[in-house]
Amino acid sequence: MQSNNNPIGVIDSGVGGLTVIREIQKQLPKENILYFGDSKNMPYGNKEPEEIISLTKKMFSFMELQNVKVILLACNTISSFIEELIPLTEIPVFDIVYPGCLAAIENNPKEGIGLIATEATVKSNIYKKTLESLKPEFCLYSNGSRDLAKVIEKNNGDQSQLNFTIKSAIDPILKKASIDTLILGCTHYPIVSKNISKLYPQLKLIDPAKKLVEIVKHFLEKNHLLASNSNTKLNIYTSGSMENFLPFIDQLEIKNYNIMVKELD
Ligand code: SIN
Repeated sequence: MQSNNNPIGVIDSGVGGLTVIREIQKQLPKENILYFGDSKNMPYGNKEPEEIISLTKKMFSFMELQNVKVILLACNTISSFIEELIPLTEIPVFDIVYPGCLAAIENNPKEGIGLIATEATVKSNIYKKTLESLKPEFCLYSNGSRDLAKVIEKNNGDQSQLNFTIKSAIDPILKKASIDTLILGCTHYPIVSKNISKLYPQLKLIDPAKKLVEIVKHFLEKNHLLASNSNTKLNIYTSGSMENFLPFIDQLEIKNYNIMVKELD
């Protein structure tokens, strides 16, 4: 049974979903949040669909036990399998791909739209299908990166390795097409949006998190599920190491958190 004071559930393969938490804290400051980042099993983007779905199912069970009122898929790779995932829980589930496409369209692209994402996301064709269903006149040019999410999550401040990996993800798109809008189709990527903007100042970067949270806010309002807590709680669980999360929490200016390590069976 959902109630206003139940937390908002957020899941990701690792630290990337913290970019969605940042947005929830801005737009829905009175909500409690429960986050699970499956860092032990990341990157999801190089796995087969069956494994991604099975790992996500475990995170759903954890979210159900914690009585969350909605589940946000703060991971594009997981969102690529939204159709298979929705029937696995009775809790309303929100993906991040649809908001990403909407936000890109609202940017009024004059040229093509670029997409960088994981290999699994690009292979699933979910962005292409979603964009075509919304605005078939826009062309999408995608490139799947095998390494970028992992380099962001595990990077120890080596900017040259980071910039090299960013360029390896974006340059192949610019070689084949003229684009002015670039969807950051993995929640890890907005963590390095400053690096991307410096390398490609001509591109408007789309972080789908803002639109995702707008959609969720609208849903909560419509269903009388908005919370009005004055002391909010953010409980972050990870199957990886706490230490790995701390620099990202700091960098994204995330507030009032408890962080705990938990593996899911
Ligand atoms: C990954 O674990 O490969 C990144 C997940 C994402 O698509 O956000």
